[in-house]
Amino acid sequence: MNQTGNPVDTAPTTSSPTAPTGPTGAQPLPAQAVPRPRVRTAAELAEEPPTYDESTPMARAVAQQLLVRQSVPQGSPLPRPDHTRVMVVANQKGGVGKTTTAVNMAAALAQHGLRVLVLDLDPQGNASTALAVEHGRGTLSTYDVLVDGVALADVIQPHPELANLFVAPATIDLAGAEIELVSVVARENRLRRALTAHPLVNGQGDDQTDERYDYVLIDCPPSLGLLTLNALVAGAEMLIPIQAEYYALEGLGQLLETVEMVRTHLNQDLEVSTILITMYDSRTNLAAGVAAEVRGHFSGQVLKTTIPRSVRVSEAPSYGQSVMTYDPGSPGALSYLEAARELARRGAGAGTHQEGSR
Ligand SMILES: Nc1ncnc2c1ncn2[C@@H]1O[C@H](COP(=O)(O)OP(=O)(O)OP(=O)(O)O)[C@@H](O)[C@H]1O
Ligand SMILES: [Mg+2]
Repeated sequence: MNQTGNPVDTAPTTSSPTAPTGPTGAQPLPAQAVPRPRVRTAAELAEEPPTYDESTPMARAVAQQLLVRQSVPQGSPLPRPDHTRVMVVANQKGGVGKTTTAVNMAAALAQHGLRVLVLDLDPQGNASTALAVEHGRGTLSTYDVLVDGVALADVIQPHPELANLFVAPATIDLAGAEIELVSVVARENRLRRALTAHPLVNGQGDDQTDERYDYVLIDCPPSLGLLTLNALVAGAEMLIPIQAEYYALEGLGQLLETVEMVRTHLNQDLEVSTILITMYDSRTNLAAGVAAEVRGHFSGQVLKTTIPRSVRVSEAPSYGQSVMTYDPGSPGALSYLEAARELARRGAGAGTHQEGSR
């Protein structure tokens, strides 16, 4: 500051007698030969008109980011399928991103106007936690649907934030269901029956009422027991998350054999329609190699979008949130949004079915 209270806007005009020499020993230029730019105050800057307008790419990008951060749906609305797409999110390998995928894809689809039900079929109840619905002991849950024949509609809870998102929660009781179901008649058909009986689920595409779930995403436990079997019998499509790591494809053969068995004996409609590569670390050759191998095996079914490994994705559940609401502008959220777009645009059967639209 100078004596008038204004900011000092010019450099001192006298050169310092002790000015150091440069690394080569050459004398520095006299200070008055390099005038410093005038420093403007924040108040002055605020009064100036912006030097850009909405037509600049940077301004558009910023505006877009702000909208994304406010969870305002971007781009064209997602196409609505002509029937309820029941998608089984399964992989008997643990920790590959099944729950994260089910929760975030569901949230992304719901944010874009589609009506989505997440069915938590894992006794761990991770999807119920991430979607912040009640799932303590005593809460009506998927256990009651499977074991006691309670109507699915009676256990469904609305998501507290997203208007189009609904959840059938899992409680710890479900851990006993595998054993309790053993003696039940048609034990592998329980979920299918419950879904078919729900008034907002239709599988054939001939009921064009608006009142239906567009997507049902079933989050499976990391096993191929009766719970996963119930899901495979109930759904027509599988969404398999594959983690981009060394053992990614190990165990996949067994999963595909189970799918084949289910298709032959229990549900001929079942197909592996979608594969999503998760926790992709673009800095490693390993991840790129695994992704290439997965694409080599399942070219048509693998989504182009991969989900990056991202701290925000793993933090979100501890706040009872999906990353889509926790940090909508983060790379993980934007990738799940893109993956959801791809899923919706492909329609059933990796793009072979006709898409509906709202
Ligand atoms: N893209 C990601 N970036 C970082 N962490 C992730 C990502 N996806 C998932 N995770 C984390 O990895 C762990 C396993 O993910 P998740 O629970 O979704 O897997 P899962 O297949 O459902 O596991 P389980 O087999 O136990 O049901 C979780 O801690 C999750 O937060
Ligand atoms: Mg899980």
